[in-house]
Amino acid sequence: MALSRWSILREFIRDPLSTGTVCSSSPSLCRKIASSECLTNADVVVELGAGTGCISRHVSRSLKNGATFISIEKNPQLYKTLVEQQSDTCFVLDAAENLPAILQQHSVTKADVIISSLPWASFSTTLQHQITHAIRASLKPDGIFITYAYVCGALLPSFAAFRKQLTESFCTVDTSRIVWNNFPPAFLYQCRKPVPVFVKSAGIPSSHRSKYNC
Ligand SMILES: C[S@@+](CC[C@H](N)C(=O)[O-])C[C@H]1O[C@@H](n2cnc3c(N)ncnc32)[C@H](O)[C@@H]1O
Repeated sequence: MALSRWSILREFIRDPLSTGTVCSSSPSLCRKIASSECLTNADVVVELGAGTGCISRHVSRSLKNGATFISIEKNPQLYKTLVEQQSDTCFVLDAAENLPAILQQHSVTKADVIISSLPWASFSTTLQHQITHAIRASLKPDGIFITYAYVCGALLPSFAAFRKQLTESFCTVDTSRIVWNNFPPAFLYQCRKPVPVFVKSAGIPSSHRSKYNC
């Protein structure tokens, strides 16, 4: 685990925008995510941006026997360490924006839960849109999307754009309390009922929300 901590710092120095953090998530944050009720009965769970794999480790322990868990990481160095350290988890070296194709390659149609550690605030609006679209296309109608954000990053305009995309892409978006015991302190969003992808996500007219069970 100590090696993993250094590996993410090294990757941050190399590519700060894509890595998004200097150290791995704290046990408190990992436990908060892994204790989400929706994980207990999920058949298919996907993680985006595994990093050092500390959330992956907690999540895989929370799943029922026979559940499918696919974890995506696009950094080859981090991916190599993940595969070496957690050989019982299915890690995929690819980008989150390719999620529908990745699921297809693993003979999975849709996920019950998607968990993201992606550094949303450092993404362009276009990339945020591509990934939220891929998530909507990959979740079951009653699926749940969980993501966390750092309190400091939430002050950035790019994060406001992401938050807007979330509210346009899901019928409900719940915000957790701040997990202070994390560096930097973070909070979770739990998003339910993805708006179907055939509906243009920008501005679902209020008259249409009931149509999508919002
Ligand atoms: C904030 S770090 C994850 C930290 C992780 N929770 C931990 O505790 O180690 C974000 C991760 O997302 C990965 N990432 C960034 N953009 C990505 C993308 N488009 N697709 C998949 N992974 C991506 C980065 O390489 C990095 O490992």
